[in-house]
Amino acid sequence: MNKNNRRLVIAGNWKMNKNPKNTKDLIDEIIPKVKDAKCLVVICVPFVDLEIAIDCARNSNIKIGAQNCHWEKSGAFTGEISADMLSSMGVNYVIIGHSERRIYFGETDDTVNKRIKAAINSGLNAIVCVGESLKDRKNGITNEVISIQIKNALNSILKEDISKIIIAYEPIWAIGTGKVATASEANEVCKFIRSVISNLYDDEISNSVIIQYGGSMNAKNCYEILKELDIDGGLIGGASLKSTDFCEIVNFSSK
Ligand code: PGA
Repeated sequence: MNKNNRRLVIAGNWKMNKNPKNTKDLIDEIIPKVKDAKCLVVICVPFVDLEIAIDCARNSNIKIGAQNCHWEKSGAFTGEISADMLSSMGVNYVIIGHSERRIYFGETDDTVNKRIKAAINSGLNAIVCVGESLKDRKNGITNEVISIQIKNALNSILKEDISKIIIAYEPIWAIGTGKVATASEANEVCKFIRSVISNLYDDEISNSVIIQYGGSMNAKNCYEILKELDIDGGLIGGASLKSTDFCEIVNFSSK
């Protein structure tokens, strides 16, 4: 699948699951099943699993990502990990601004913006999450909320750096709930995100930016969602922890 010359990206977000031993087992299981994938495959693991994940994936077509990074290069920030540290160990991607970080760990649009800049400066690609709550959707302010999140996330990010950013549209009400957005609901918002990016930059950039959908995507519902024109892949939580489900999504995206 190739939409307007955009390559699909399927990224697993393991969240706080799997220890290093489980990581090796699962990645070893995934590697042969996705070896012919035409889409880009990224697996975002907990910090403690990065080293073994990078080692396992070394000679495969899987890229390894982290789930957060701090914006400073180093310093007195107990418990934090910098983007520089991640890139120095061979990490390629980092998820930024996931709704769980926004809700449980006080992540704001401002810190999301700082983390994106740090990631880019360290040579990482950022998977930037945006999404509305159920209340926002019921109040009819989805576009407004998404527009603010995108504008703040991309604040003073240079045009030439947008290729290092993937946007993941993840409606909060669909994450881990089994309540997946309908394909057209998801596409409508992804299309809207493109229009916001077009206003901030230009049409060429907005047509080239990769926009994923995330929120209860699995091997059953991925077909409908990934067929949509403005959706270039998925950020997959629960289903990325099972090799059969994850690989089915990857292989469908490679058609
Ligand atoms: P889910 O998570 O697929 O389990 O809904 C997606 C995400 O949070 O990135």
